[in-house]
Amino acid sequence: MKLNDKEFELFISADEMAEIVSRLATSINRDFAGEEPFFIVMLNGAFMFAADFLREMTVSHEVAFVRASSYKGTQTSGEVKIHTPVPEKIKDRRVIILEDIVDTGITMDFFLSELKKFSPKSVSIVSLFVKPGVLKQKIKVDYIGKEIENRFIVGYGLDYDDFGRNLDAIYVLKN
Ligand code: IMP
Ligand code: MG
Repeated sequence: MKLNDKEFELFISADEMAEIVSRLATSINRDFAGEEPFFIVMLNGAFMFAADFLREMTVSHEVAFVRASSYKGTQTSGEVKIHTPVPEKIKDRRVIILEDIVDTGITMDFFLSELKKFSPKSVSIVSLFVKPGVLKQKIKVDYIGKEIENRFIVGYGLDYDDFGRNLDAIYVLKN
């Protein structure tokens, strides 16, 4: 399959993605039963994950969206920008971050330090994917959909220069 100028091949089927999302949702419904968590969805990449995941939430909750970016093409730029304000309402709330992928962890590390300025009661991270590099930033991803090797993937919200976000399965860059 070709996206822009690069070739990708199927990596994780749409059915498997649905299973991963349901498993994550079940864990959150169990662990946050009786609480009222505040979800923060990391745009743009987590939009499709969040849409499917939140429909499976049985716990009462609020949702806000924050856009952060660090990537250019298939390489991280190492520079993080947060383009939308962090919701002040998170003070004393249990926050759950919904992220598509934590790779080097630079984005998450930066975002966590921003969040803490608003004094949430707790912060948990749910990420569909983590790559091995995440270990370098010593970030604890509390709920992991799937650990993947260090390859570039697209689909289910993840993009290659904004192409491929609509795909219902995950595709990997051909070597
Ligand atoms: P980090 O700061 O290196 O952890 O990168 C995090 C962000 O980079 C993610 O939220 C994604 O938007 C993007 N990213 C990392 N790996 C991939 C990938 O394989 N495909 C598409 N986007 C990626
Ligand atoms: Mg992202």
